[in-house]
Amino acid sequence: MVDSINKVVDVVVIGAGAAGLMCAITAGYRGRRVLVLDHANKPGKKILMSGGGRCNFTHLHSTPANYLSANPHFCISALKRYTPYHFTEWVERHGIEYHEKTPGQLFCTESSKAILNMLLTECEWAGVDIRLKCSIESVQAIHAKQSARTGFKLSTSMGVVQCESLVIASGGLSIPTMGASPFGYKIAEQFGLNVLPTRAGLAPFTLQPDDLARLSPLSGVSCPVEVKLNCHAFKEPMLFTHRGLSGPAMLQISSFWLPGQNLHIDLLPDTDVLAELKEWRQQSPNKRVESYLTTKLPKRLAQTLVEWHQWDITFQQCSNQRLNEITQALKNWKIKPNGTEGYRTAEVTLGGVDTDCLSSKTMAVKDQPNLFFIGEVVDVTGHLGGHNFQWAWASGFAAGNEA
Ligand code: FDA
Repeated sequence: MVDSINKVVDVVVIGAGAAGLMCAITAGYRGRRVLVLDHANKPGKKILMSGGGRCNFTHLHSTPANYLSANPHFCISALKRYTPYHFTEWVERHGIEYHEKTPGQLFCTESSKAILNMLLTECEWAGVDIRLKCSIESVQAIHAKQSARTGFKLSTSMGVVQCESLVIASGGLSIPTMGASPFGYKIAEQFGLNVLPTRAGLAPFTLQPDDLARLSPLSGVSCPVEVKLNCHAFKEPMLFTHRGLSGPAMLQISSFWLPGQNLHIDLLPDTDVLAELKEWRQQSPNKRVESYLTTKLPKRLAQTLVEWHQWDITFQQCSNQRLNEITQALKNWKIKPNGTEGYRTAEVTLGGVDTDCLSSKTMAVKDQPNLFFIGEVVDVTGHLGGHNFQWAWASGFAAGNEA
């Protein structure tokens, strides 16, 4: 039997993801009648798959500098009013065990399910009604009787719903198999808002055919690197995959990368490679360059570099120029990716609803105060490390206090 929802509520939230659930809970506790609609068969699918199944739910040192947006100031107000400590305190109250992985990054110790269960429990306590497998067919602005404020009428696969406030929390385009859709951008356009071009962020790189042939046998090898592009630099692990390059360093820099650009990779950050090579030449002239490399890098990577650059020589065979060349290759490996894996595997979508159209305090559309956009659908994208969920919580909380 098809569930029917012909009714009038105060707030409809479209999207039962991180931002939508947070908004629904906040509005529900204010006494608002809240209905959450999602076309997926389960709520919070991305929460479940996040952080490798352990949900990196926030970053203790999240600041506006950790976000990309055409207006870098937009996120300040919401992030200030709902901090990582607010969310962590909630997690603690629910008795969820968590740990700090790399400094600031908080992960569930057991499973991401704990975070989703917490949000769903709070939804229940706040009286929020969640309906899944519900397609939104149309959204219309209406003028409610005896009120100057505009409301909304939604035609859905489960019936017609009327509401005073409408919150769009339908996320971005990444991982279409998890329910991602351009719904939010289309609604924004329908209501005359500007939508900035979107592209995949926090996505692994694919490589040009020659590089791929050389590097794909290294699939599974990981090492700490520093990757640079223009003025951006990330010192984190890099992972070779059978398609190209991934790992936190590559995911981070991918959000800044444009087709045709070179990445500059330092395979031995914090190491004065030239000084060490000179020392090896002096102390161990009969040793091979590969011996040095295997003390510094995973063995398979060291062997690949030796073959690729023809470094199968001893230190006494190395001129100063050769040592400089080796240093350059290790400290400033220039590589031009073929592309990224795109939305299929990207963690986030860059771009989206132009923040110029929204109030930074409430996430409401400036000239349509009952319409809200929150979470990933908005042109605010975090670095890797829990910043994206922090934006979902903070923007959801901001809208939930107003909707
Ligand atoms: P989100 O995408 O979560 O939710 C949108 C909801 O809207 C979905 O439930 C969807 O089904 C629904 N929807 C879409 N279109 C609809 C339509 N037409 N009709 C009805 N409903 C519709 N971040 C982080 O901080 N720490 C982490 O550990 C990770 N890890 C991670 C791993 C992977 C694999 C991915 C893909 C992403 C992450 N992220 C992350 C990013 C994080 O998941 C993301 O930023 C938030 O989920 C965004 O929350 P939203 O609520 O805005 O969208």
